[in-house]
Amino acid sequence: MSNTIKLSIGKAKLQINDKTAELPIIQGSDGGLGVDIATLRAQTGAIIYDNGFNNTTSTLSGISYINGESGILRYRGYAIEDLVHYASYREVAYLMVNGKLPTLKEANQFSAYLTEHSMIDEDMHHFFAGFPRTSHPMAILAAMVTSLSSFYPEIAHDDVNFTITAARLISKVRTIAAFSYKKSRGLPVVYPQAHLSYVENFLNMMFNTPNRPYNIKSEENQLYVNILDKLLILHADHGQNCSTTAVKLVGSTQANLYAAVSAGICALWGPLHGGANQAVIEMLENIKEDGGNVEKYIENAKNKDYRLMGFGHALYKSYDPRATLAKELLDDFLSKCSISEPLFEIAQELERRVLSDDYFIERKLYPNIDFYTGIIYKALGIPTNMLTVMFVLGRLPGWIAQWRELMGYGIKIFRPRQIYIGPGAVEYVKMEDRV
Ligand code: ACO
Repeated sequence: MSNTIKLSIGKAKLQINDKTAELPIIQGSDGGLGVDIATLRAQTGAIIYDNGFNNTTSTLSGISYINGESGILRYRGYAIEDLVHYASYREVAYLMVNGKLPTLKEANQFSAYLTEHSMIDEDMHHFFAGFPRTSHPMAILAAMVTSLSSFYPEIAHDDVNFTITAARLISKVRTIAAFSYKKSRGLPVVYPQAHLSYVENFLNMMFNTPNRPYNIKSEENQLYVNILDKLLILHADHGQNCSTTAVKLVGSTQANLYAAVSAGICALWGPLHGGANQAVIEMLENIKEDGGNVEKYIENAKNKDYRLMGFGHALYKSYDPRATLAKELLDDFLSKCSISEPLFEIAQELERRVLSDDYFIERKLYPNIDFYTGIIYKALGIPTNMLTVMFVLGRLPGWIAQWRELMGYGIKIFRPRQIYIGPGAVEYVKMEDRV
């Protein structure tokens, strides 16, 4: 998309004291309206204050469409439901990066790129050794992704070679993620293998050990591969959320793609964002240790002493369509696997109570994607501190696509203003004269 696209459909007038600003009204392809306030300060001296940027954008984007009121999510126009039911993660990753679904030949070529670029430079292994065992895998991942820029500095921008750049990043981040886990457990790393698919390789690198070989081709493990592939699709993109905005903020300075993605990883880590999936499991474990007292946690949330993790969403004021799909995947998985886990029962009880409680109904607080995905990852045996890393693996194609879209605009550095509330001019007092 180019910044020369004409979206203006008229003028809005905004009166501030005795000055009236005339501002272009712009309209997106979904009918959504915006007011271009770029000249507001020049016309009136005022800027826009928008706490948390919740009603502001600095981006025109054609990647994901979200209708929070109706619970609709589409990637590049395709319904999330269709992609989860019929597509694979490699197809969706290609769709994100290239803007179109791949033909079989293109998909196979993309797989070949993923395989070819799955290793990381042996010298990077020394970095892993330097982290304490107790490191959070997200800390290792963010640092290692930044360091990729030293080992693989070339980033192609043309269509053919950008696909390779994207595949290289997607594949290597998956390898780094699995290595981070192995290192945190003091276990030898398992290298990616050319005959395994993207997700198969990830699970094999996570769970294969020299003394206990892991049969990724077993019927049960193929079930895990299938569900994980779909979970990654659910995470692939979600508009201008906090981590995507972090990617773009750093990208807008023309820092390299790895630096921008690393910023996205750090932003995703927080429990109000992608870190919520880890926080969900920790919350359920706390409830379990507390004797399964779900009611106490609900009451604490209503008294504002506590936030129920995995509930609520900044945009979705009806059911998050990703949560609906994740719940479908969870139910299907539990019907096929005889897993008995008290946390699932607590989760079901919590969900049931929240959905019938006026406090949550009035505030339109439904389970979000992290509520169910956290539980599924747990069921798949993914360790709790790796849950947000799983989100990174899914979101990576979206971040890459959003970064590339930004580059296509003719980048303007993100530089918000402020409403200053500090002291006026204060006279400097030398240290010896201060009391
Ligand atoms: N538990 C209890 N109460 C909540 C929760 C919650 N999880 N979320 C919001 N509320 C309440 C608030 O206290 C507030 O109540 P009030 O109107 O009486 O003051 C009201 O609902 C609105 O809350 P806001 O914080 O304004 O809602 P916002 O839409 O800005 O926040 C957010 C969205 C951050 C996701 C919030 O719902 C939350 O903290 N949820 C828990 C963390 C979580 O699951 N995050 C993952 C989000 S999905 C993702 O990032 C991939």
